[in-house]
Amino acid sequence: MKIDLISIFPDYFAPLKLSLIGKAEQDGLLKIEIHDLRDFTSDVHRTVDDTPYGGGAGMVMKAQPWGDATDAIIENDPQVIVIVPTPSGQVLTQEIAEQLSTADHLLFLCGRYEGIDARVMTDLSARVDLREVSIGDYVLAGGEVAALVMIEAITRLIPGVLGNAASLIEESHSLVQDNQTLLEYPNFTKPPVWRGLQVPDVLTSGNHGEIAKWRAAQAVARTEKIKQVKPPEGAQ
Ligand code: ADE
Repeated sequence: MKIDLISIFPDYFAPLKLSLIGKAEQDGLLKIEIHDLRDFTSDVHRTVDDTPYGGGAGMVMKAQPWGDATDAIIENDPQVIVIVPTPSGQVLTQEIAEQLSTADHLLFLCGRYEGIDARVMTDLSARVDLREVSIGDYVLAGGEVAALVMIEAITRLIPGVLGNAASLIEESHSLVQDNQTLLEYPNFTKPPVWRGLQVPDVLTSGNHGEIAKWRAAQAVARTEKIKQVKPPEGAQ
């Protein structure tokens, strides 16, 4: 997968060199390219923002640098999926991450301030697949951190990126029960007793059927507690 990012803070993406994603890039599974929006400005001050039409607080990112920067990338690949992190987008889910993990090329537009001039998204969506995506119902100072979250959620689903592919299979099996997405069960490792707290006996029993049952029950209990999901009708 190729991932392009455009931002006025290219240094925000240093963590992409670390851990699984850094290794995936070294292994040739990913190619990540970071573009500085200011390289596409047209004035000596390298201006990227201006006051909003209609008044109001804050600044809006100018259309011209975004238009020129995205043109340069899209020209080489009109099939690219453009993702605009924004609190007013569709909230990221595991299903969306799974769908995006099959793409060949993603381009993230990381805006700041009060966002990007809306004409940039109108212009792009007439030419390419453009998605406005939020990582949750809260407001960040810019799209960079949100793009990092999305990239991690998406790229770990690409075959070969996770060290242990079995974790993904396990995850997808344990996540859904009775059409409900469940949270993961609690995990434990050695030693068997730590600060007086013992690992549940069932996990050291070697009985895989009982272990699976216990984990499923824990996942349901956790989900009900955290999400306050009502049990299906007719359930005891
Ligand atoms: N930019 C600012 N807040 C955001 C959020 N919650 N999700 C995605 N991008 C954002």
